[in-house]
Amino acid sequence: FFNNVNSKNLAGKTVLVTAGPTYEAIDPVRFIGNHSSGKMGFSIAEEAAKRGAKVILISGPSNQKTENPNIEIHRLTSAKEMFEEVFKHYENCDIAIASAAVADYAPKEIAKEKIKKSDDSLTIELVKNPDILKTMGERKTKQFLVGFALETQNEEENAKGKLEKKNLDAIVLNSLKDEGAGFKNDTNKIKIITKTEMQEFNLKSKDEVAKDILAFIESQILK
Ligand code: CTP
Ligand code: CA
Repeated sequence: FFNNVNSKNLAGKTVLVTAGPTYEAIDPVRFIGNHSSGKMGFSIAEEAAKRGAKVILISGPSNQKTENPNIEIHRLTSAKEMFEEVFKHYENCDIAIASAAVADYAPKEIAKEKIKKSDDSLTIELVKNPDILKTMGERKTKQFLVGFALETQNEEENAKGKLEKKNLDAIVLNSLKDEGAGFKNDTNKIKIITKTEMQEFNLKSKDEVAKDILAFIESQILK
């Protein structure tokens, strides 16, 4: 049963997925961003749709595409825009999966004109972005809420901290320790952690990882 993708176990369910990086503008031509490709989120969206769900995919800048008629895609740029879009849809969702690599900080002010080169050093003041996932945790009613964690130290402890702090039902820990896992690659090595259990998976393609994540979520909500 565990990996049976032929069964439309998510029929009638709405799944919200955040994906990709966010870009935070500095001036009209520059931004602060990160190397997230959006692949993991798009794979999750495809897999959820395969399992019968209606999917709302909310993505930052990414080259990934989908033609799946059961995936409604909303593309945007910044963390603030992602926040706004997410909360247009969140209330009606049954499952929410936050795989986006949201920028933690954004420039306090966006320069109206391209910043000219002048002094030997340049300081840009950054202010904290809203935490989209934490807000989803606060506004949770019926949703099964899944976050991601990317850690380079004390990974399990930090992931468990986020599970608690953001009021999540499960957190997917991305292991960067293994070569080939993470951001720019096509593969990931994950652990899924809940309040009561932990499951470790092998290094595999992001499409396969998406299957593991959706199978896990099904096992939790259908049990
Ligand atoms: N996240 C979010 N909004 C933010 C920051 C993070 O929705 N402004 C979500 C991510 O999509 C991910 C989870 O929170 O699912 C954890 O992101 P991560 O960067 O690992 O944790 P942070 O809470 O941002 O803490 P830190 O970067 O300091 O480890
Ligand atoms: Ca962060």
